[in-house]
Amino acid sequence: MSLSHTVKPITPHVGALIQGIRLSGSPNPDILATIRKNLNRHLVLVFRDQQLEPNELRELVRHFGPLFHHHADEGVHYVPDIPEVLEIRKEPNDERLFGGGCWHADVTFRKPAGYVSVLHAQIIPTLGGDTVFSSTIAAFNGLSGGMQSLLRKLDAVHSYDGPGKPDHKTQCATHPVVRQHPCTNSEGIYLNKMFATRFDGMTAEESRPLIEFLDRHMCRPEYTCRVRWRGGQVVMWDNRFSLHYPINDFQGQRRSLLRCTALEA
Ligand code: SIN
Repeated sequence: MSLSHTVKPITPHVGALIQGIRLSGSPNPDILATIRKNLNRHLVLVFRDQQLEPNELRELVRHFGPLFHHHADEGVHYVPDIPEVLEIRKEPNDERLFGGGCWHADVTFRKPAGYVSVLHAQIIPTLGGDTVFSSTIAAFNGLSGGMQSLLRKLDAVHSYDGPGKPDHKTQCATHPVVRQHPCTNSEGIYLNKMFATRFDGMTAEESRPLIEFLDRHMCRPEYTCRVRWRGGQVVMWDNRFSLHYPINDFQGQRRSLLRCTALEA
């Protein structure tokens, strides 16, 4: 890895383009410290023109925590011999995009939950297939004091199968709705409509209106940035304080990215 870099924020609240850092090879401590510092500040980091083999992607992500091994499921494609790296793949005839259709953070249905995810673009549509990110810290700061106080008292149940289904037998966890960043002390909303089924101690029906409100609130354009993919691009994000939404608007084209996720330690 080399170190002589620039950092260009994408929006005031979320996202930065980091130039001058090569991610392949063995990570050196200065580079990792730079990445951590900027991830804490910007939550989503974009690195262009990278070339990482799947095992290099895995080794990079390993520096952020224990690697997540996704259980087998429809739409989950493992890279051969490297099961911690998934291929997020949509073929021209596929309708569904893995992770599409709903704002979410990765692996909130586990404890320890998802921390850093890294996506490395392989095949990108000529147009479309962007990923939008939002800062749940900016979203928390945009709430009234009364709502902030209410949320601090709540926990939520996150289940892999999502709302409307029984809790998943193994992939289900309860988390506080407000998290405090261990380095910046900022608070963020820890909830997403893909996996959060209800507030702990409430029914799904009682919980739904507030979950719906928070989902709409967290994806207000003011709190978001939109990342356009390029071949070779790497995007890294902090799942504890951001949500993302891959846009399924490229029917008839291929899109393939490699993803690896570290859990909280
Ligand atoms: C994901 O939801 O983790 C995948 C995001 C993407 O394909 O852009």
